[in-house]
Amino acid sequence: MTRAKIELGDVTPHNIKQLKKLNTVVFPVSYNDKFYKDVLEAGELAKLAYYNDIVVGAVCCRIDTSDNSRRLYIMTLGCLYPYRRLGIGTLMVEHVLKYVEQDGNFDSIFLHVQVNNEGAIDFYKKFGFEIVETKEHYYKRIEPADAHVLQKTIRQPQSPPMLNGTVPHAKTNGHD
Ligand SMILES: CC(C)(COP(=O)(O)OP(=O)(O)OC[C@H]1O[C@@H](n2cnc3c(N)ncnc32)[C@H](O)[C@@H]1OP(=O)(O)O)[C@@H](O)C(=O)NCCC(=O)NCCS
Repeated sequence: MTRAKIELGDVTPHNIKQLKKLNTVVFPVSYNDKFYKDVLEAGELAKLAYYNDIVVGAVCCRIDTSDNSRRLYIMTLGCLYPYRRLGIGTLMVEHVLKYVEQDGNFDSIFLHVQVNNEGAIDFYKKFGFEIVETKEHYYKRIEPADAHVLQKTIRQPQSPPMLNGTVPHAKTNGHD
């Protein structure tokens, strides 16, 4: 038997309905027209995952520049239930990690997960994500309504320069 072909492809106006259908099946919350309009302009930050040419997963991210940092926010990353534990989620996270590495200017990657979504929490921990915060009543229409914020630090926050212009010694990362 030949091995299954797992690959990522672009989101285009021709397949955006497949992305909508997939997100409706995989996630308990729904996403509005603005979400899909932005996704169409997201380039490498939005991808469909194919298993032998069938759409079975998708990842959608955006860049967040609030709180004085530049972070990649994973809005959705999911795979149809029968196709889980086959490495499709891993392929999508690795795509995101590669994007962030090539960009070279992100402080962190983060996302929200429902507090009872232990599978997703275990999955993200494998890639170095940690729970950094729990937000009560984050979701409006689903139970449990609380969400963990999972975050992977890419670059430690820089300390502000000292008044005489020198950078505190202990916080440098070993590079010139
Ligand atoms: C989380 C999710 C994306 C993982 O996708 P996947 O294709 O099954 O992941 P992979 O096959 O690449 O799993 C890689 C590893 O992560 C861990 N993992 C994945 N799912 C897990 C689960 N349900 N329980 C425990 N560990 C899990 C395992 O270590 C796994 O390796 P293994 O299969 O060799 O044991 C998928 O379960 C999903 O779509 N969930 C619904 C959507 C969602 O909750 N997304 C997260 C919020 S954006």
